[in-house]
Amino acid sequence: DSAIKQLQKEFPPIKNNLILRACRGEPLERVPIWIMRQAGRYLPEYLSLRSEHSFFDVCRTPALCCEVTLQPLRRFDLDAAIIFSDILVVPQALGMQVDMIAKEGPRFAHPLNVPADIKLRIDRSRQASVELKYVYDAITLTRHALNGQCPLIGFSGAPWTLMSYMIEGKGSETHSKAKKWLYTYVEESHDLLQFLTHFIIDHLVEQVCAGAQLLQLFESHCGCLNHDLFIRFSLPYLRQIAKGVREALTRRHIPYVPLIIFAKDAHYALDELCSSSFDVVGLDWSITRKQIRTIRDKYPTVTLQGNLDPCALYASSDDLEKMIKQMLEIFGTKHYIANLGHGIYPDANIDNVKHFIDTVHRISSEMISS
Ligand code: CP3
Repeated sequence: DSAIKQLQKEFPPIKNNLILRACRGEPLERVPIWIMRQAGRYLPEYLSLRSEHSFFDVCRTPALCCEVTLQPLRRFDLDAAIIFSDILVVPQALGMQVDMIAKEGPRFAHPLNVPADIKLRIDRSRQASVELKYVYDAITLTRHALNGQCPLIGFSGAPWTLMSYMIEGKGSETHSKAKKWLYTYVEESHDLLQFLTHFIIDHLVEQVCAGAQLLQLFESHCGCLNHDLFIRFSLPYLRQIAKGVREALTRRHIPYVPLIIFAKDAHYALDELCSSSFDVVGLDWSITRKQIRTIRDKYPTVTLQGNLDPCALYASSDDLEKMIKQMLEIFGTKHYIANLGHGIYPDANIDNVKHFIDTVHRISSEMISS
């Protein structure tokens, strides 16, 4: 423990801080890029490590987390690393059993069916700093191993996304079981969302204390909400998290880190997201050019992130290049972080991943210098 505290104080100096400068809107020599789920199954070296360790064993073993986090950085000229973990480590930390089933995804052994299950399944006395210490140890180790190559991103799932997983118990098209709570158990839903909010704030702050230099909040399940439900059951908690993380860092005299919100399929709430005190708003691949131009003009101090369709990586390299050019023309080169508009798929073409990254760098630096 004290060894980790000691290590924390001696992080290597940063060599590439493009992404941090993009968050502040500073002029850059090129647009920074990272890829959602950049450490994952499209990399043979990831599959090889996974053939020997279960998914959550990797998550719980800092040395393995560190190795997997660094794998894409050995291949590609990425401008950020993201710590290898999962949004579902939070329900696990609260006492729920979650397993990763091959070819299916996450499964909860005992999902929440009715509010009375909360008492049975969730231990409200659990502390992030204790239960998720393995995440923080992995972050500290990885921050050292990166040797200042680029910043390290920490992350968490947002309250509604976690609540809906805890009720559905697995992925869902409609999330109708979880939405039923929003219509029938309104008070209990808010109570659960509020509890998750406090835990998530602690989890994010601990990640910064351990060495994370940016934070991304994943609200992945906005596609099953409408504007009204989003305003009531998601947005207030996203705002509390942004404010709560800021205040906690100030209180602990820790320098501020940029906050990214990625609310997938929240096309109906771009105004609210852009005016919610997040530094960066991540856009999914369905957001139109017209919507991007509108928010770009209306919120000039917000940094935008995204939003190439992950399936664009199946295109020919010439077609891919055209799409990248178009994307850079719409977003511009300032206040912008290039990324996919959702996580990369396991069958992505690795040569095209490299082409995506290198082409964003090349075209954006040409745009900046001309
Ligand atoms: O981005 C990264 O490289 C960091 C690691 C990361 C993972 N999951 C690793 C992972 C991050 C940031 C996540 C976030 C996550 N996890 C989200 C939010 C992003 C999104 O997709 O909207 C969600 C919803 C989850 C929950 C989750 N974990 C699902 C639904 C699945 C299975 C679905 C799938 O992609 O197959 C996972 C498993 C998972 N998490 C894998 C990885 C690399 C693949 C599992 C494996 O190795 O077998």
